[in-house]
Amino acid sequence: MSGKNVTNAFEEIIFEATNAEARKYIAGGVVSLNRKVDPAIIFKQGKGSKIYDIHGHEYIDYHAAFAPFLLGHNYDPINEAVMDVLRNDLSLIGSGTNELEIRLAKLLCGMIPSFDRVQITNTGSEATAHAIRLSRAYTGKEDIILMIGGYNGWHNDVARAVMPSLKQLGPRVSPGQYPFIPSSAGIPEGVKQKVHCINFNDLASVEYVLQRYPVACVLTEPVLQNIGVVLPQPGYLEGLLALCEQYDAVCVFDEVKTGFRSALGGFQQVSGVTPHLSVFGKAIANGYPLGVIGGKKEIMELFDDKDPSRRVLIAGTYNAHPLNTAAALATIGILQNPQVYAQISDISNLLYRGWETLFAEKGIPAVVSRNASASCVYFCEKTPQDLYDILEHHDFEWDLRWRRALIGKGIYLIPVACKQNSVSYAHTKEDIARTLETTREVLKEL
Ligand SMILES: Cc1ncc(COP(=O)(O)O)c(C=O)c1O
Repeated sequence: MSGKNVTNAFEEIIFEATNAEARKYIAGGVVSLNRKVDPAIIFKQGKGSKIYDIHGHEYIDYHAAFAPFLLGHNYDPINEAVMDVLRNDLSLIGSGTNELEIRLAKLLCGMIPSFDRVQITNTGSEATAHAIRLSRAYTGKEDIILMIGGYNGWHNDVARAVMPSLKQLGPRVSPGQYPFIPSSAGIPEGVKQKVHCINFNDLASVEYVLQRYPVACVLTEPVLQNIGVVLPQPGYLEGLLALCEQYDAVCVFDEVKTGFRSALGGFQQVSGVTPHLSVFGKAIANGYPLGVIGGKKEIMELFDDKDPSRRVLIAGTYNAHPLNTAAALATIGILQNPQVYAQISDISNLLYRGWETLFAEKGIPAVVSRNASASCVYFCEKTPQDLYDILEHHDFEWDLRWRRALIGKGIYLIPVACKQNSVSYAHTKEDIARTLETTREVLKEL
């Protein structure tokens, strides 16, 4: 499929030539292979709620670069804070601490219920890798529990298929576990054997694994937001924490996606369930690369244990780079105004209600599952509660068709079934009206 808004043959040729040039030099033709999608549009700019392709065609963006842009693309006050760092020569020194990172750490510990202490990384994947290693060191155990349909980064311990097929998974089991279906070649067998994949919202299976294996941690997104938006059932997160405590496993929430999108204190603040460790990323610095791991003092202080045999390594040349740290501080400063969350919520609800009305008018079975500004339309009768519900009932083919049709008319939902849509502070009522009008047109045509 060609790029959207390709209005003439010349534009088509440019798109094709640029993609061909990329394939010549970039392995796979895109950087980060999750970005390989069809249509393979080449984007150039983003401002507020809009992104622009190389021909200057405008799209209202709900992809938000896989979700970090809670305030919108290139939000001026964040960029100003970053430019201040440059203007003031606040360089990365790589020795000792500095005022910016102390301010950020203090703010995070004050805001996020589980944070007594923090460490700062560049990405969410680094933060989840540290969470697993810390948990292993703390408990002296090596196995881990992950959720099917969850994503926690790219490293060996967590690289399982996010959306495996029913055939790969086999029949639903409860209590029980599923095979580790790697999303990458090159993962040692020994690593796979220590990873236990279970179904979300299924406490019986958590206990099943905890009883049988020496589990260091249960690592889960509190809301599964890499297969759309799958919410925890009432009591699930509480039960998970209680089981971890009963079996001496560390309860880790991966809030890389839920993070600041749910609230400044993460989904743990919304749910009232405080895990032992948690990791944040993405929206925390509104598009600048920053990850955070934090949690209980006695676990986090293993990073600096006096006994070298107990000490857990954390290192990284670019950790807490001043540009990213300043971006996070500025993001938090803006989000501390409650009106910002209120506006994002109002705008998000306009979209959700509008979509629900349009699908109902058309008699299309669809549910809009949501967690604050994150949402996903599932084309099925009931809101899914786990990956099986999606695999069994969601119309994947229709999902892709409506995404591509919307892209063709200037509304960008990433053309991958079940991926989250993200509304930002920059989205306006006009954006939502245009999105709904376009949806109406698309539904007529499909
Ligand atoms: C829930 C979750 N955890 C971890 C990660 C990894 O974060 P990063 O891509 O910054 O390494 C992601 C990325 O999409 C994510 O969604």
